[in-house]
Amino acid sequence: MVRGEGCRVFDDSGRSYLDGLAGLYVVQVGHGRRELAEVAARQASELAFFPIWSYAHPAAIDLAERLAHYAPGDLNRVFFTTGGGEAVESAWKLAKQYFKITGKPTRHKVISRAIAYHGTPQGALAITGVPELRTPFEPLVPGAFKVPNTNAYRAPDHLSGDLKAFGRWAADRVEEAILAEGADTVAAVFVEPVQNAGGCFPPPPGYFERLREICDVHDVLLVSDEVICAFGRIGSMFACDDFGYVPDIITCAKGMTSGYSPIGAMIVSERLFEPFTHGSTSFLHGYTFGGHPVSAAVGMANLDIFESEKINEYVRAQSPVFRATLEKLLDLPIVGDVRGEGFFFGIELVKDKATKETFDEVESERLLRGFLSRALFEGGLYCRADDRGDPVVQLAPPLVAGPAEFDEIEQILRGVLTEAWARL
Ligand SMILES: Cc1ncc(COP(=O)(O)O)c(C=O)c1O
Repeated sequence: MVRGEGCRVFDDSGRSYLDGLAGLYVVQVGHGRRELAEVAARQASELAFFPIWSYAHPAAIDLAERLAHYAPGDLNRVFFTTGGGEAVESAWKLAKQYFKITGKPTRHKVISRAIAYHGTPQGALAITGVPELRTPFEPLVPGAFKVPNTNAYRAPDHLSGDLKAFGRWAADRVEEAILAEGADTVAAVFVEPVQNAGGCFPPPPGYFERLREICDVHDVLLVSDEVICAFGRIGSMFACDDFGYVPDIITCAKGMTSGYSPIGAMIVSERLFEPFTHGSTSFLHGYTFGGHPVSAAVGMANLDIFESEKINEYVRAQSPVFRATLEKLLDLPIVGDVRGEGFFFGIELVKDKATKETFDEVESERLLRGFLSRALFEGGLYCRADDRGDPVVQLAPPLVAGPAEFDEIEQILRGVLTEAWARL
């Protein structure tokens, strides 16, 4: 790919594709925004680099203040990284050190959900629940345990059809894991507001309310991994606001700059920061490029666009239109489920709609890697056919996409999925 403009990218032969994935859940305000490139150039001319270990620079200060302003509750303390995996890694390390210096040194374990993706550094990879990504690097960091995710389409039989009961059941599995490990050994629970890997699992009603309650009762930190969901993807700056909970830590990255320069962050509550304000205690962790001046300046300009163009309001208004357009595909025999929130949807493909039977290993390989990804791409749609779990097509276009793009996505998918069914 050599160029981007709005919701489209262009390859080296000049052919254009609809960017159905905002790069990789990143390019929120769309491609080709000259003003963001110009801000980057200005900042690089003024102060290209200075580490924020001991002295700060205005761009990082401004961005930290702005993130704290958007974050809920007293999540006012911002620690910059260069991406999402580093933010997750930082959160686990912070949780460990926090409990060590507050007299609970045995609290070091973490809980996360099956098939969830949280990044590739060794700690984040241990939190990640995708078996194929973990196996080649075992043994991983010990102390990371998995619980069921919120895949309502595949809810246990006795709960299917009752979302609230399913949500309660799924949240209670976290408490079960905390108790099984011993509450005084558990430091944190890592969850995405809407889980991406596995195919877009929104939280059932009551899920986060119950999860917050469980974390409070057992003094376990709730980490909201918003690397995908923050910055308008669901319709608010931070998606915990979309679902009405206040975590102890938010991890974020991707959309903060709409990808015009890399940056990530961990945002923590005052309670977690306080023990680090005493004497010579400090969080013994950091990245040379964390809070890079160019990225921080671009982040500010990107968030200015969010404000001036009312991006979050737009996502909230257009999300039902996007959903309704994708739901038209439910008339195809291969489309089992359309689910998601905001500008973030997954379409689950099945072999039998009535029984929800999925594809076996060989069919999956043939359908997803052998045909779908390529056919969608050749049809002019860049998106993702994923089978880290059951086969799904994932869609998350730039947040400036509208009904014309939704229709184009639906049309291309309709053609390709019809052919896929015929080939089975
Ligand atoms: C929820 C979540 N956490 C963490 C990460 C890792 O982020 P990065 O690739 O910037 O390290 C990702 C990446 O897709 C993600 O989706």
